[in-house]
Amino acid sequence: MKHIVSGIQPTGSLNIGTYLGSIKNFVKLQDQMPEHEFFIFIADLHAITIPKEKQFLRKKIKELAALYIACGLDPNRVNLFIQSEVPAHSQLAYLLQCNSYIGELERMTQYKDKSKKQESVTVGLFSYPTLMAADILLYDAEYVPVGIDQKQHLELTRDIAIRMNNRYNDIFTVPQPLIAEVGAKIQSLTDPDQKMSKSDDLIKSRIDLLDDENIIRKRIRSAVTDSVGTIVYNKEQRAGISNLMTIYSVITGKSFTELEEQYQGCGYKEFKDDLAEVVVGELKPIQERYYDLINSKELDDILDKGRDRAIQVAMKKITKINDRIGLGRKRR
Ligand code: AMP
Ligand code: TRP
Repeated sequence: MKHIVSGIQPTGSLNIGTYLGSIKNFVKLQDQMPEHEFFIFIADLHAITIPKEKQFLRKKIKELAALYIACGLDPNRVNLFIQSEVPAHSQLAYLLQCNSYIGELERMTQYKDKSKKQESVTVGLFSYPTLMAADILLYDAEYVPVGIDQKQHLELTRDIAIRMNNRYNDIFTVPQPLIAEVGAKIQSLTDPDQKMSKSDDLIKSRIDLLDDENIIRKRIRSAVTDSVGTIVYNKEQRAGISNLMTIYSVITGKSFTELEEQYQGCGYKEFKDDLAEVVVGELKPIQERYYDLINSKELDDILDKGRDRAIQVAMKKITKINDRIGLGRKRR
């Protein structure tokens, strides 16, 4: 069976931007590609490339695992696990580092951006892309669904795989990125020219997946629009109302034309009241499932099962790689 691999970093809170732009697509993939086995993990080793406080990290790891299942990732279809619980990821990362060059890592744009913001830069942040390559090559992934920002890391992964295939006689599958067709891009509720972001200091700018329904209503009511007052889509000139229409449209499947017809003659209040109910209706079942799961044995069972399967595949691979490189003793 061919493999699909992807990781998600446990940092920040998930908001409806990430949900509508990425997670919803992800859930679709598991149904569209029934002939592939999925390995999806919480990338906690990646999260500590910039140091995190212990309690915060633990909380975010579990929260992310529960939210992904709550949003519809099917544990029967997907092996969901925590990266650090499968030691072969770190093991392979080291082997890849011995086959990567400082120059190629220095060219990574995400590293350049992130390191600029740090007072001191860890070796872990620098070698981050080799850990990501290990995550992928360990499972011989055929496809790797990621956002466009990860494309350069995927290209590096392919380069390392091809290089090691030449050196060690085809040990890796060379992976392909699966860049989601641009899902809806959701903008900030307070500044519709900016992306809705989990790192925005202004909490009113977004709706987090776990926000209480009254907060959701409040945020939508206070979302920035304009003084025109009609429900008409025009992304360039009327970014605020167009963003709200996008949220409405992605959740309900209604087109902009349908919404314009439905709300002809109506004002923002009526539209926003309806949108709030649409968003609450979408998030409520996710939240209910999340709170059922978060402290449940079920979640631990899912993560145990995912880990066990991942270890099974990963250990077999690491043994084979060590053997090809000539580490340890020759196997009888
Ligand atoms: P991030 O949360 O920024 O690490 O992004 C995780 C994934 O969600 C990436 O694939 C992003 O492209 C996507 N994403 C994040 N924020 C938004 C947004 N406001 N609208 C649409 N997609 C988003
Ligand atoms: N670096 C990715 C991000 O920040 C997360 C990630 C880690 C990942 N390992 C991966 C994604 C392996 C795909 C495959 O979004």
